[in-house]
Amino acid sequence: MTETGKPLLRVLQGEAVWPPPLWLMRQAGRYLPEFRALRDKADFITRCMTPDLATEITLQPIRRYAMDGAILFSDILILPWAMGQSLDFVQGTGPVLGAIRSEADLARLDPRRVADATAPVMETLSRLRATLDGPDPIGAAQGGKVALLGFAGAPFTVACYMVEGHGSRDFEATRGMAYANPMLFDRLMDMLTRATADMLCAQIDAGAEAVMLFDSWAGLLPPAQFRRHVIAPTRAIVQEIQTRRPGIPVIGFPRLAGIMAAEYARDTGVKTMALDTGTDMAAMAGLVPDLPLQGNLDPLLLLAGGDAMAAEARSIRDAMKGRPHVFNLGHGVVPPTPPEHVGELVRIVREG
Ligand code: CP3
Repeated sequence: MTETGKPLLRVLQGEAVWPPPLWLMRQAGRYLPEFRALRDKADFITRCMTPDLATEITLQPIRRYAMDGAILFSDILILPWAMGQSLDFVQGTGPVLGAIRSEADLARLDPRRVADATAPVMETLSRLRATLDGPDPIGAAQGGKVALLGFAGAPFTVACYMVEGHGSRDFEATRGMAYANPMLFDRLMDMLTRATADMLCAQIDAGAEAVMLFDSWAGLLPPAQFRRHVIAPTRAIVQEIQTRRPGIPVIGFPRLAGIMAAEYARDTGVKTMALDTGTDMAAMAGLVPDLPLQGNLDPLLLLAGGDAMAAEARSIRDAMKGRPHVFNLGHGVVPPTPPEHVGELVRIVREG
């Protein structure tokens, strides 16, 4: 990447860019009135699987704020759905899946269905890339400078929802299965590891310029299990992408991993570490001096806005000056966030 490349991609390749490029996890979402307007028109899976809708929703925050990155509008649970697991997003409850608890449940999943079932997602990516890099790009100030991000859930986090059948604070059934029936759990994890690598390669072929692995529940695992179910599958996916699609950076997000995040950063091969709100970014920078970092403003400070948000955003940004840093939140934008606060944050980060 040269000086003229996309700022976000330059940072992911290890360059320090000032002011830092930014995008926000869940930047397309319920806090935006234009998202809520489309939300009434189709259910969540339909929105993910209709290229017209998914393209439009992905671009909404780019139009409003000229973010440096556009993240595909989809979900980490589209992969199990594409393998044949039942999935419903229930208002007020979140995702509900037909729980995988036995060999027979696992045998009903078919990873060979994924390529066909996710074809609309790939169509969305290719339309997004054509729009972002086209003659009439979205976000006037950022014309041709917006990087397109693909993503997947990391195998452990996806397995959490697949086994539990719904969201949870501690995913007891999933962690219980990993101990009590390791053969079954490992088969599920292997299936997910392979299918995730294949799906991310397909996203790259369709136009994604970098990909992020969300491991939202990595922090539930004790160290030995963390190495086995977080580090090992992540390393396998990263190696597969490096071999099959060389040069495409992978961003890793082992949420709530605590001190294990350092081992993850060293051992998985990810090109960038996305840090959650609880991680001291300067301390992590000391441990991995060459690795780009992404994060990590508290989403609740974005919700609160005002001077406290401004001060903390500047403090994170300034602490990372001179090293590769992508400004982001430590987790997703929360639905009650006033859209003006996001505009204010973008202005503050870019004031340099
Ligand atoms: O970041 C983005 O804007 C890109 C799209 C994206 C969504 N989900 C859209 C979405 C991404 C990257 C995700 C990742 C995701 N999905 C994760 C990992 C990141 C994290 O938040 O920890 C997880 C665990 C999921 C699973 C999931 N999807 C849950 C638990 C829920 C329900 C809770 C909620 O926030 O509503 C979803 C639904 C979902 N995924 C919505 C959006 C915009 C809300 C659905 C709606 O509009 O009703």
